[in-house]
Amino acid sequence: MQIEQAQPGPVITGTPVIEMQRVTREYRMEGRKGSKEEEAVIVRALGGIDFSARAGEFISVMGPSGSGKSTLMNILGCLDKPTGGSYVLDGIDTSASDTNTFAYIRNRKIGFVFQSFNLLARTTALENVELPLFYRRSAGGEKKMSSQARRERAMQALSDVGLGDRMYHYPSQLSGGQQQRVSIARAMVNDPAFILADEPTGNLDSGMTLEIMGLFQELNDQGKTIIIVTHEPEVAVYSRRTINLKDGFLVSDKEILERRNARQDLEQWKQDHALLAEEAP
Ligand SMILES: Nc1ncnc2c1ncn2[C@@H]1O[C@H](COP(=O)(O)OP(=O)(O)OP(=O)(O)O)[C@@H](O)[C@H]1O
Ligand SMILES: [Mg+2]
Repeated sequence: MQIEQAQPGPVITGTPVIEMQRVTREYRMEGRKGSKEEEAVIVRALGGIDFSARAGEFISVMGPSGSGKSTLMNILGCLDKPTGGSYVLDGIDTSASDTNTFAYIRNRKIGFVFQSFNLLARTTALENVELPLFYRRSAGGEKKMSSQARRERAMQALSDVGLGDRMYHYPSQLSGGQQQRVSIARAMVNDPAFILADEPTGNLDSGMTLEIMGLFQELNDQGKTIIIVTHEPEVAVYSRRTINLKDGFLVSDKEILERRNARQDLEQWKQDHALLAEEAP
């Protein structure tokens, strides 16, 4: 296969928008009464993470199963709070935030994408994308969105991910890659500054993976800060920086100097597959 030369990304400078200091996360597992394991056990998922990111970065989080990647993502995405340490997101100290502020950050600043898409099955693509607008948290003085405005915004988000002709399909009537695009549209509909994705390509074949990574690269080029978890080095090459976790600690942090272009790789992949199909008896 012919390898296209990757282009280096722009140098990202500026003050960090994500700042974690000595972040720990412990889970307390209650013991079972009357058994040998009666005493509670503390599971330490994160042992003390120092990590910062600037606006416009595209970071992949790697590491073996159980190393703390999802735990870290959930804290970054304000789905969970650390046990210790501090986490400042866009100037807001999340550890000191009340439940309302926490929900506001999650709803307006962050778009979360999951491995299993997490779409509502009995709801069309359009309604799935509208949902975060329905629960939209407004800051002081902001007007509530009309249902017409919500619909238009959701339609735009679906068009942006190339699904303008699939708005009224149910998740079961869409391919895996299309379902993931719906969930990216849902993550984007409130125009968040951050996109966090936990193994977004874990359930996709290589063509669909390239499609989704191309979409993330496009969003990153538009200025979104993106953090994804992946097990696959061949997915991480589309980001600009890779951090590695091991046993709840950050063990490496590397810049990717030559970012690969997922759109180009997808074109190549399609050509190779067309050739293979022709050669098949
Ligand atoms: N709710 C929980 N209660 C107790 N322990 C947990 C809980 N969630 C995670 N853990 C433990 O914390 C550690 C880190 O888990 P985490 O899910 O963050 O790993 P991961 O790196 O995402 O793994 P994978 O690649 O398999 O998704 C593991 O040892 C796990 O067993
Ligand atoms: Mg995980």
